[in-house]
Amino acid sequence: MGATVEIDSVTKFFGEGADEVHALGPASLSVEAGEFVSLLGPSGCGKSTLMLMIAGLLDRTDGEIRVGGKSVDAPRTDVGIMFQDNTLVPWRTVEGNVELQLELRGLEPADYRQRIAELIKSVHLQGFEQRHPYELSGGMQQRAAFCQALVHKPETVLLDEPLGKLDAMTRELIRADLQTLWMDTRPTVIFVTHSIEEAVQLSSRVCVITPRPGRIERILEIDLPRPRDLEVKSSPEFTAYTREIQAIFHGYGVI
Ligand SMILES: Nc1ncnc2c1ncn2[C@@H]1O[C@H](COP(=O)(O)OP(=O)(O)OP(=O)(O)O)[C@@H](O)[C@H]1O
Ligand SMILES: [Mg+2]
Repeated sequence: MGATVEIDSVTKFFGEGADEVHALGPASLSVEAGEFVSLLGPSGCGKSTLMLMIAGLLDRTDGEIRVGGKSVDAPRTDVGIMFQDNTLVPWRTVEGNVELQLELRGLEPADYRQRIAELIKSVHLQGFEQRHPYELSGGMQQRAAFCQALVHKPETVLLDEPLGKLDAMTRELIRADLQTLWMDTRPTVIFVTHSIEEAVQLSSRVCVITPRPGRIERILEIDLPRPRDLEVKSSPEFTAYTREIQAIFHGYGVI
């Protein structure tokens, strides 16, 4: 089960004087343990900035972030992180790359054999354990990166447009895997996407963020049955959610 994530009046400014950029906030959001929350907002509104601050990889200008009740003031090794560009190293196999995330955290890969095998199977990469990244398609590389992000059983998982560079069909398949993975173990997931449909399909709540400086404008609770498969996605209820979000972005003038 996941950890709570509390974002309390967080702001971020980059640069100084004439170069100062107000990137984000004040933004507040309380994510419950085991929730799947999406951050949806126009390019440049501060989504990645917020993710880096939650991971403790970037300082805040103001405000407070707590993960599992503890203030974030240094890089957190207990969260799982995945960005649009994966972090697979070319000289290691799929399995070796997943193990790398354990080694970096001082964990013993031998204790995680079964976990690694199960994860690789759950993202349909069995048979490719000993292949190197260059032998995999883009979608397969992202699947391997999911295993990296999850192998140490993080209570909190930060996913910043992990499917952004993939084709529509692969995206659809990996979304389904992601939904299953989340339903099985219920970590707290914060998921950045540009896709309204993806956010509605996966999330318990969708946070709609304004153009820069990003503020959380609306939080929509998505009350749809799971697993959200093609049938759910073609329901009038699903379409009503996507329309509602489209209307908000239309109001900003971004679509
Ligand atoms: N290291 C940095 N130095 C200076 N400005 C930065 C830095 N990182 C981000 N910014 C600025 O902060 C703003 C928010 O950037 P951020 O990357 O968080 O946006 P985003 O919402 O993730 O956008 P996208 O959807 O395109 O990924 C942008 O205006 C960007 O130029
Ligand atoms: Mg970004």
